Amino acid sequence: MLERLTQQPPDALLALIKLYNDDARPDKIDLGVGVYRTGQGDTPVFAAIKRAEQILVDEQDTKAYLGPEGDMGFVNALMPYIFGEDATMGGRISGMQTPGGTGAVRLAVALANRAGCTRVHMGKPSWPNHAQIMADVDIEVALFDHARADGTADLDAVLAVIKAGGPDEAVLLHASCHNPTGIDYSNDDWDAIAAAFAESGTFPIIDCAYQGLGQGMEEDAYGLRKVLAAVPEAFVAYSCDKNFGVYRDRVGAFYAMAKDAADLPVIFSNANALARASWSMPPDHGGAAVRVILRDEALVKLWLDELEQMRDRMRQVRAAMESAGTAGSVDLRPYGSQNGLFAMLPVSPEQVKQLREEHAIYMAGSGRINVAGLHMGNLDKFISALAAVTG
Ligand code: LMR
Repeated sequence: MLERLTQQPPDALLALIKLYNDDARPDKIDLGVGVYRTGQGDTPVFAAIKRAEQILVDEQDTKAYLGPEGDMGFVNALMPYIFGEDATMGGRISGMQTPGGTGAVRLAVALANRAGCTRVHMGKPSWPNHAQIMADVDIEVALFDHARADGTADLDAVLAVIKAGGPDEAVLLHASCHNPTGIDYSNDDWDAIAAAFAESGTFPIIDCAYQGLGQGMEEDAYGLRKVLAAVPEAFVAYSCDKNFGVYRDRVGAFYAMAKDAADLPVIFSNANALARASWSMPPDHGGAAVRVILRDEALVKLWLDELEQMRDRMRQVRAAMESAGTAGSVDLRPYGSQNGLFAMLPVSPEQVKQLREEHAIYMAGSGRINVAGLHMGNLDKFISALAAVTG
């Protein structure tokens, strides 16, 4: 039976981790997978997480199962950060824990499919795993242009698909720090997007994987909150993997906003059934650590300070790129005003290969770079290598 399986390519982004680790050149630069790095190139555990983990070691008295919804203390404690003051929209929003943001996206798409969604519209480009998840759920995908050549978001394209969609179709949007482009909708754009959703009845699915890494926790939630305030129903897929630095602990949550609070039990009975059949129950440890942080004012402050340092460092790298102006044929100026971990370089797969082989600079084949892989110690090398391959 197993002979019928055909060879699948490894996930290109995850394959880069190994390629990079195997490279012995001391000045190699990792701009591949999306993890935050300090100016020294490390991805340390947040001090707030370390303290919370110690508290867990001291206080946790059982590891018995919690159920498919996971740690509801964690899920509920996050809500004011995501949804703002009226975090439940009058009781219309509820959630459950998922294995990372990927689990949350998977659940959102599978549940939309179960509810009869006929098609999901998705920006091009998007996080490559979005397309893989949709293919696996077997839901139809339609693409619209996310960005214009000048490095700004293509508002007209997204408005057109939302307006044409209707209640049987969904549009998947990135809340902030767009992956892979770093190009976010402006607040004015979000106002127009929210109005288009309200008018058309098209169903919003919002992937919020980088809150706090762009402009700030509140600022990065502007669009999501605006859309949710305008529509009767929506899904939100959330990840804490980046903004709490708990990548391998896989810490995420899925939220659904219903027309009426009374509809939530049916929605979550379906979400629980899907979770049970996929991962049964989410991993606990990282979510529990986040819950411990969020219940303690001093730990919240420590966490937000650490997040701010990360954000500031990435803004500094972006500002340095902007002030460098150009590298060969690449205009670096638009990167200054873009957000989050990622940026797209206008380079061909051949140039990506050349950067890797000749300059030990690792990035996704699409030309996506992780801005956090750059720092004042390697930026000059990066810019001259980019100039050498594109000039
Ligand atoms: C990325 O895009 O690099 C991250 O979201 C990690 C992942 O799972 O792909």
